[in-house]
Formats: sequence, C-alpha cells, structure tokens
Amino acid sequence: MKLLGVSGSLRAASFNTALLRAAQECAPEGVTIEIFGLHDLPLFNQDVEDQGDPAPVIAWKEAIRSSDALLLACPEYNGGVTGVLKNAIDWASRGAPSVLQGKTACILGASPGVTGTVRAQDALRQSLRKVSAEYWPLSEMLVGQAHTKIENGQVIDEKTLAYLGRHLTAFIEHLRVEGK
Ligand SMILES: Cc1cc2nc3c(=O)[nH]c(=O)nc-3n(C[C@H](O)[C@H](O)[C@H](O)COP(=O)(O)O)c2cc1C
Repeated sequence: MKLLGVSGSLRAASFNTALLRAAQECAPEGVTIEIFGLHDLPLFNQDVEDQGDPAPVIAWKEAIRSSDALLLACPEYNGGVTGVLKNAIDWASRGAPSVLQGKTACILGASPGVTGTVRAQDALRQSLRKVSAEYWPLSEMLVGQAHTKIENGQVIDEKTLAYLGRHLTAFIEHLRVEGK
C-alpha cells in the first residue's frame, strides 16, 4: 500500500513535515509513504491552467493518482489551512474527474499552540468534502505544543511517536475494511 505524504509547510524545520518523516519510520509493514514537496507548485491561475498544466502540477496530480491514499500534514495559519496546502488542493481539484475524487485522506497536524491545528483540520475537511475526496472520520491527530516534541525536524517525544504508529495502523485497517 502506498500513501502520499503532503505537508502544508515549506519550512525546512517544519513540525508538520517532521510528522510525515516520523510516519515513514513507523509505517506498518507493507506500507510505504512517499513525501511530495509542494515547493515547485505555482499559485493557481486559471489563465495558466488554460495553457495546460505546468510540469509541477502534472507531477502533483500523478503523485496523487498513483497513490492508494493520502496523509495530509496540515499546519494552521490564522485558524485555517495554509495557502500552500489550499493551493495544492485547488490545482488537484481540477479535471473531470479530479484525481482527488474518492481518495481517502488521513489528516494530522502540529502547532506550538495547545489546540494543535484543530481549526485548520476542520477547514481542510470542508475543502475535501467539496472536491469529493474522503477523509478518515474516526480519528484525528492533533500535536499541540509541538516545539516541546519536535526538534530540528525530528519528532523526539516518545508518546507522540507511539500515538502516530497507532494512528497509522488504524488508518490502514480502515482502508482495508473499505477495500481501498
Ligand atoms: C501567518 C501565520 C499564522 C499562524 N496562525 C496560527 C494559528 O492560527 N494557530 C496556530 O496554532 N498556529 C498559528 N501559527 C503558528 C504555526 O502553527 C507555526 O508557525 C508552525 O510552526 C507552522 O507549522 P510548520 O512548523 O509545519 O511550519 C501561525 C503562523 C504563521 C506564520
């Protein structure tokens, strides 16, 4: 099973990208997680799209298409999804059908605040619903006070790592039950 890991942060020491790296380390057997960087995606512009998808957009859509499910690490900016992640979803939503249609997403997020991206994750679910993507509804992973648990792009908190492992295992089980 192949999961596509996507972080809504471009920051080198991003807490959210660190969660994806840790997920790669503790993925259940038989599961691989490829991290797709959003650095090269241009801002969505329908005039550009009308000329044909730019190469980074083609690569982004292909990465989604060839994955079995998505692992979305969602930072919170001003109570919502970062522009980086929303922009990526906007590109991927285009096409009939969109490559996002029917894809299941597991959402996680980390922030220095105590609520650990809960508002951004809700906003992300709203966008996913709109593009007919599915999200795993049963669980969420909110890493609050991330600066005490993640250092230099590495998750150092054992409880967070253990929770992440359980979270991934439960998500994979959900995908198998759903026949994905
Ligand atoms: C423009 C901006 C807005 C932010 N708004 C929020 C917010 O609403 N809630 C929150 O918990 N953190 C907020 N933060 C702090 C981010 O959670 C923090 O920068 C975090 O490290 C971003 O994720 P990253 O480590 O993956 O880059 C904000 C940061 C920026 C730069």
